[in-house]
Amino acid sequence: MKAAVATRYGLDALALRDVAKPMPKAGEVLVAVHAAAVGRTDCGFLAPHPALLGRLIFGWTRPGRPILGMDFAGTVEALGKGVSGFKPGDRVFGMLGWRALGAHAEYVCVREDAYIATMPQGLVFAEAVVGEGAFYAWNSLKALNVKAGDKILIYGASGAIGTAAVQLAKIFGAHVTAVAATKHMALMRALGAERAIDYTRDRFTRIGETFDGLLDAVGKTTYLRCRRLLKPGAVFAGTDMGPWGQTLLLTLWCWTTGSKRVTVAMPRPLPGFAQFLKQHLEAGDFRAVIDRRYPLDKIREAYEYVQTGQKTGIVVIDVRTE
Ligand SMILES: NC(=O)c1ccc[n+]([C@@H]2O[C@H](COP(=O)([O-])OP(=O)(O)OC[C@H]3O[C@@H](n4cnc5c(N)ncnc54)[C@H](OP(=O)(O)O)[C@@H]3O)[C@@H](O)[C@H]2O)c1
Repeated sequence: MKAAVATRYGLDALALRDVAKPMPKAGEVLVAVHAAAVGRTDCGFLAPHPALLGRLIFGWTRPGRPILGMDFAGTVEALGKGVSGFKPGDRVFGMLGWRALGAHAEYVCVREDAYIATMPQGLVFAEAVVGEGAFYAWNSLKALNVKAGDKILIYGASGAIGTAAVQLAKIFGAHVTAVAATKHMALMRALGAERAIDYTRDRFTRIGETFDGLLDAVGKTTYLRCRRLLKPGAVFAGTDMGPWGQTLLLTLWCWTTGSKRVTVAMPRPLPGFAQFLKQHLEAGDFRAVIDRRYPLDKIREAYEYVQTGQKTGIVVIDVRTE
């Protein structure tokens, strides 16, 4: 099968190669991949000179998984022993954990009990590779303890995590203020935000309101900038270390002092995640925001674009044409 293989760190090392088609083990489903996505997790794995911490996490001399890719959508090709929830020909979608990956290939094996579900009715495969952003958005909103009626501010709401966070916060019943650049204002409202603030024109920190939770979905603002926006007891959550590692350092400080004020949401398992996404993709209150699409043989161009940090929503890889 064809796969995008990373034999060492750096985008230069990523090449389309012929590799052995995987065989499903007991409890696994073999999926013929139609659509995948390139996300910031993939970029993190491939980063050219990862710091010591990165090497400990991602692999010492090269990415621990040579085939990257978290999100997949496609058709079931074969079943491993004992699989009962799927059959060959089923249209499925889902997300591989960061320790598994492998969706940048014509075939991938997925555990039946992992994040996999049959495709939402009425969607094409490209519209279903939304897992990464939704997963981190959900974990972050859990860290904020979002409840119906809460007022939530989402900073950097135009990326994969941000667009998912706006929609999930609405599903959880929150009142959403989204902060993004001018060109994303209409999108913020279309996704359900009650209020959209253009960070290139207005100081969102001076709006004179307070919130029950604040999510920095893109790692570009700081707790110190935002603290006056937080109600007593409200949490500031980041998806990233933040400028100069501030959000991570404050998170460590909060852990040691027992405070919950600042946190970087850790990727924790979300049982029923794929089924939850399916339900909301079908209901239409959650949708993919697709920026660009690339065929598998142009995946390096997709990485180059995602690495700019300028994408809106997701970047899709068309592994097969539907
Ligand atoms: N916790 C984890 O394990 C984990 C996993 C995945 C990703 N992440 C991190 O989470 C962050 C977001 O990931 P993502 O995939 O959602 O990112 P993304 O899709 O690449 O986000 C890009 C968006 O951010 C906007 N943006 C750029 N600079 C901004 C700024 N200064 N203020 C506000 N918006 C800005 C861009 O629009 P404009 O430039 O037009 O404003 C663009 O729409 C990244 O830092 C990533 O490394 C963490």
